Amino acid sequence: MEYEEIVRRNREILSRPLKAIPEEKLARERDLYYRRNRRSREIFEKAKNLIPGGVEHNLSQNKPFPLAMDRAKGYRMWDVDNNVYVDYLMSGAPIILGHAFDPLDEKIVEIIREKGPATGLTSEYELMAAEEIIRRMPGVEMVRFLQSGTEADMAAVRIARAFTGKQKIIKIGGSYHGWSDQMVYSLHVPGTGPLNSRGITTESYAHLIDVPPNDFAALEKAFEQNKGGVAAVLVEPIGGESGTHPVHPDWNRRIRELCDHYQSLLIFDEVVTGFRLDMGGAQKYFNITPDITVLGKIIAHGYPSAGAVGGRKDVMSVCQGGMGEKIYIGGTLAANPITTAACYHALRLMEEHDAVKKATAYADRLTAAMNELFAAREDLGFFVYNFGPIMHYVTTAFFAVDLSSPDAFTQIMARKQTADDYQVATLSHGLCTLAGTRMYTCMQHDDEALNKTLEVWEYLLSLIPRG
Ligand SMILES: Cc1ncc(COP(=O)(O)O)c(C=O)c1O
Repeated sequence: MEYEEIVRRNREILSRPLKAIPEEKLARERDLYYRRNRRSREIFEKAKNLIPGGVEHNLSQNKPFPLAMDRAKGYRMWDVDNNVYVDYLMSGAPIILGHAFDPLDEKIVEIIREKGPATGLTSEYELMAAEEIIRRMPGVEMVRFLQSGTEADMAAVRIARAFTGKQKIIKIGGSYHGWSDQMVYSLHVPGTGPLNSRGITTESYAHLIDVPPNDFAALEKAFEQNKGGVAAVLVEPIGGESGTHPVHPDWNRRIRELCDHYQSLLIFDEVVTGFRLDMGGAQKYFNITPDITVLGKIIAHGYPSAGAVGGRKDVMSVCQGGMGEKIYIGGTLAANPITTAACYHALRLMEEHDAVKKATAYADRLTAAMNELFAAREDLGFFVYNFGPIMHYVTTAFFAVDLSSPDAFTQIMARKQTADDYQVATLSHGLCTLAGTRMYTCMQHDDEALNKTLEVWEYLLSLIPRG
C-alpha cells in the first residue's frame, strides 16, 4: 500500500466514531480469557509480589493479565495452560527462520556443551559473525558487538558525536531507539515529547532535536537553526516504531542529502529492518547508505545479548585508540561465543533458506487476504499494509491521532482501549500479535496459519456491530 493511501486511510478511521465490541460480548470474551488462562493468572498473581507490576516485557498484552508462555516451535507458541497460538510477535521481530530452529539450536547447544558459554575474552566466532554482517550490509565496513539495541543506539550516538565533534542529534517523532535517557522522547505518538520521561533529567534532552515524521520543512529548519551543530540524524528507515508511522518515499533520501550538505552523519536504526526487510537491511532495500547502522536482536535470532553498531571504517575508528582517545564502550558479556555463534549461523541459515523471501511472500498474501476480509466491512475502515515481513494492521488508529486536536489524549486512550479489547478476543482465539497493531512473519508460516488467522479476524469482525 502506498504512503499516501496509508495516511488517507488512517485519517478516515480517525474521522469515524470508535467501533467498540458491545459490553455484553466483551464480557464473554473476557470470561473466556480468564477460563482458558488459569495458570497464567496464577503466575501473574505471584509475580506481582516479586516483579514490579508482575510483568517486565513491554510487548506483552497485559489486560486483563499477561500470558506466560511455555514453548515455541516454528510459527506456533504454547502458553502454560497449553493453549496454542499462531505467533506473529516472533519474539519482537528476531525470529524469521521460525522458533527453535533445529539446525541453529544444535550449533548453540554444541558450543555450550563443549566450550562453555563465555570467557570474557575474544573468540573466533566474533570475527566470523562480523564477517557475515559486513558482507551483507552495504554501509557496514566495521562492526562492534553490544548487548542490546538500546546499547547499540547509545553507542551510535556517541560515535557520531566523537567523529563529528558536534553535539546535536535529530530524532524523528514516534520512533523508538531504546530506553536510554536521551532517547525516551516523543515515543509512540509524534509530538508527545517528554511524556515518558519520569526519572530522566531535562538536561538529558538538551542536545536532542525532535522532528515530526515526514515533515521536510521542519527537518530543514532543524539543520539550518543548528548550523554546524548536528552530529547525526537517527532514523528507523521504514518509519517510527518500524513502520507504524510509515516513511514518505522521499524522506530517507532527503535526510541523506541534508546530512551530506551539513556534514552530519546518517544513522539507520535497523534493529527491526536489518536481516528482516532484506539481508542487506533497509539500506539495501532503499539503496541509501547510512554512515552508521544500529543492529539488534535478529543478529542472534532470539539468543540473548544481541546488539551491534557498524559503519564506515573512518567513523567506526573512534572506537579504537588509546586512553582518552577512543570513545568508551563496554559490556562484559558482549560478543560472547553464544551470541556471536548464533549470529554467524543464523545469518547463513537465513540466506540458505531464503527466509526473507519466504516470510515476505507469506506477509504479502496475508496482507491481501486481510484487506479483502476488511473490505467486506466497509463501515469499519480497517486496513493492513506491509514492508516485506513487517505487517501493520490499523483498526482504531490510536498511533495516528493528531495531537493538535482538542481531545487528543482522551481519543488516544479510548482508541487504545478498544484496540486492546480487540486483542483480548484475538488472543483468546489463538492469535498472538504485537501491541494490537503489528505482525511479524517467519519463513514457516503456511496455509494453515493463514486460514486460522483469517478465521480469527472474521470472528472479531462478527463481534462488532455493523453501521
Ligand atoms: C527500532 C528499534 N531500536 C532499538 C530497539 C531497542 O532494542 P533492545 O530492546 O534490544 O534494547 C528496538 C526494540 O524493539 C527497536 O525496535
